[in-house]
Amino acid sequence: MHLAVNKTFLLVAHRRKKIEMVNLDNILNILKERRSMDFSGYRKAMLVRRIQKRIYTTRSKGITEYLDYLIENADELDNLIDVFTINVSRFFRNSLAFEYIAKIIIPDVFLNKAKENNKSLRIWSAGCSFGEEAYSMAIVINEFLRKEPVTINLNIFATDIDKKALARAVAGSYNIESIKKIKCGILTKYFKEDKGSYIIDDEIKKLVQFSFFDLINKNIAVPAQSIYGGFDIVLCRNVLIYFNPDHQKIIFNKLYNSLNKNGYLILGEAEVPIEGFKHKFRRENKFCKIYRKIG
Ligand SMILES: C[S@@+](CC[C@H](N)C(=O)[O-])C[C@H]1O[C@@H](n2cnc3c(N)ncnc32)[C@H](O)[C@@H]1O
Repeated sequence: MHLAVNKTFLLVAHRRKKIEMVNLDNILNILKERRSMDFSGYRKAMLVRRIQKRIYTTRSKGITEYLDYLIENADELDNLIDVFTINVSRFFRNSLAFEYIAKIIIPDVFLNKAKENNKSLRIWSAGCSFGEEAYSMAIVINEFLRKEPVTINLNIFATDIDKKALARAVAGSYNIESIKKIKCGILTKYFKEDKGSYIIDDEIKKLVQFSFFDLINKNIAVPAQSIYGGFDIVLCRNVLIYFNPDHQKIIFNKLYNSLNKNGYLILGEAEVPIEGFKHKFRRENKFCKIYRKIG
């Protein structure tokens, strides 16, 4: 008897799971066809959780009703993309990592550039969201150059698949949440307050080039604007966590190939180099996820 109940339960659970997957595939196909965005490489559990959020917000009775709603309301496609592409970011997120970048990495990079008489510094913020990470890097470098003036051709590329986030990054206007971690001196030096928003200084804004770039597109290795890889520092933080292992591999290949020999790779706090890449990077600091490309 007990066994029979369990069997029935398993069958129902299995059917429900199957139905969920069919609906999930339908939803992903709609996004691909209508918005040219492919979310099939994202972790399924994460996508299902986000869809549930939209089901609740749109007051749909379930996944099937939500699917109809999605088909009939073009705006809902954008709302769904918004919840799939989690844009949470902040200036100087993981302050320890930024301390290490400012105190160790940037001086080391400039020292090596001087030794090699190399006057180009190239940085990539991959999955830049609203631009906080890329602008934080620009501020760190600007602070360094104020103390140690050298001529350098600085290129900071910042890319994302979320066009709305990119537009906000270009505008450079932030709310109080984004700027919470900024030290007072830096805040007053590089931001102007306007009716509760904090606008980044033009001097910093012009150092960063924002563009659309899909990290899981197998056909393109680096953002078009960057012409070729050759990056000294690549930041890809809090992006890999959203992808399944196959797609993490696609992304990691791009990160690895875009970096110069001895280049720095900076990951999010919950991220590490994946299988197949562990031996290609050396960890630089035991408290933050900062790695160096070996060889
Ligand atoms: C949580 S935010 C991370 C922002 C920043 N790197 C940080 O750590 O504060 C993740 C970003 O990755 C972007 N993203 C997701 N999938 C992507 C893809 N396939 N290609 C490029 N960016 C992607 C999202 O749009 C989002 O802006």
